[in-house]
Parts: sequence; structure tokens; C-alpha cells
Amino acid sequence: MSVKKLVEEAKKVIRNSYSPYSRFPVAAVVRTAKGRLYTGVNVENSSYGLTICAERVAVFKAVSEGDRDIEEVLIYTPTEEPTPPCGACRQVIAEFNPRARIIMVARNGKTLVKSLEELLPHTFTGERLLGGEKGGEKGSEGQGHTG
Ligand code: THU
Repeated sequence: MSVKKLVEEAKKVIRNSYSPYSRFPVAAVVRTAKGRLYTGVNVENSSYGLTICAERVAVFKAVSEGDRDIEEVLIYTPTEEPTPPCGACRQVIAEFNPRARIIMVARNGKTLVKSLEELLPHTFTGERLLGGEKGGEKGSEGQGHTG
């Protein structure tokens, strides 16, 4: 699917951004392996910390529709430079695909494409908790640390 199509979808929803405090509207579009698209915008709150980013809204929409195979996340901001996702959103995307393609697009079309691995190296994933990835590390030192 073309980046142009994803940008079109982002531009359709960015007017829904609820960002009266930062005045920094963001739109995100998740594309899954099925080729389905899920949009999101940032939703702020007067209790600032409750604000949720556009990327997480889009990811949670996909997951709640049972569509977790996230391949791409586009982030559109009407700014001069492309906007990279915040650390929290990187971790949330990594939960579903540590290798997702992250496409950042600015108003003038300036585009930056990175893999999530580049943006979030040495990713902490659930495999560690489930004992899949180097489970032995946990076995030798974890759990019952006595000092
Ligand atoms: N924001 C996003 O929606 N995504 C990002 O990747 C960066 C930050 C939002 C959160 C807040 O509403 C505003 O941008 C300013 O931080």
C-alpha cells in the first residue's frame, strides 16, 4: 500500500485531534497484514498525564478489532519536520511487531522512514517474561535474588 494512501487517511482524521492544550495535532494510521487501516488522533485531557497519543489510539483500535499483525504505522503532523513517535508509543507498537515500519510525514511531504528496531533498539518484549528469549538468564539469576 502506498504511503500516499496512508497520508490521505491521516489527513482525513487529523481534524478530530483533541489537542486544545498543546495545539499539536497528530494523526496516525496503522496498516495490518490484512491490509486494513486503523486511524487515530491524539486525545488530550485537562489532567495532562491522561493524554493519549495518536499512535496508541490507532494501535488499540486495531488490536480491539482482533487485528494485531501491525506492519506499518504512519505518523502525520502539520509541521515543518516529521514527528517521531514518543517512547511510550514505540514500546506499545513493539508489543505487536518490534520490526514495524514507522513512516513519519510532515505537512510539506517531508518523510522519514525507520524500522522500529532502529527507533527502539534492544527492545524489551514479552518473550522474556514467557521464558522464550534466553529464558536461562532468568533461571540462573532471577526470581529469588537473596543478595
Ligand atoms: N503526541 C502524539 O500524539 N504522538 C507522538 O508521537 C508525540 C506526541 C501528542 C501528545 C500530545 O497531545 C501532543 O502530541 C504534544 O505532546
